[in-house]
Amino acid sequence: MAPDSESGFSRREVLATAGGAAAIAGLAHGAVLAQEAPKGKIAWRGPSAGKVRLKINGTERTVNVEPRTTLLDALRDHLDLTGSKRVCDRGACGACTVWIEGRPQNACLLLAIEVEGVPITTIEGLGTPERLHPVQEAFCQEDALQCGFCTPGMVMSCVALLKSNPKPSSQETREAIAGNLCRCGTYPNVLSAVERVARGGK
Ligand code: FES
Ligand code: FES
Repeated sequence: MAPDSESGFSRREVLATAGGAAAIAGLAHGAVLAQEAPKGKIAWRGPSAGKVRLKINGTERTVNVEPRTTLLDALRDHLDLTGSKRVCDRGACGACTVWIEGRPQNACLLLAIEVEGVPITTIEGLGTPERLHPVQEAFCQEDALQCGFCTPGMVMSCVALLKSNPKPSSQETREAIAGNLCRCGTYPNVLSAVERVARGGK
């Protein structure tokens, strides 16, 4: 494809560097949750919709989406996985936090095509209403949610923290959830929930 005469970039190159732009924007998500461009090579797609294979919660799912479709939109609008919330849709709130290869990232800052074939975990992959994950259980016991909009993302960040650091300090927990905003102000209860899990659920 011929480069744009003014910018010197082709549209292909602009799309291919979208992950880099997301990486920069993701810095607003906090140091611990800093967005990283996925390792996979981005194949040229589009402009019309095409099949994208996503590896979600251990299951391969195929969506038919345009190259501009974010991972968050693919999850919510094409796969009916609505646990990840769309609040700011620009990497500022953390409500859409999922794990990419086990690390928390903002699904609204990733294109679905960027994470094709990469292991993705959403809140639906943690627990079920009948069998909550210990962190979800602790959130209930410590009253760590009110409206619940931030909660899935907050839980994803807390579980990721506890996996790598089973007994985090209060400061470490604060840093881990720095990119997760709670308008209802449940932060002290979230800290209590993490402490409860670190104590073995008591
Ligand atoms: S919806 Fe993704 S960071 Fe707010
Ligand atoms: S519980 Fe309402 S935004 Fe966190």
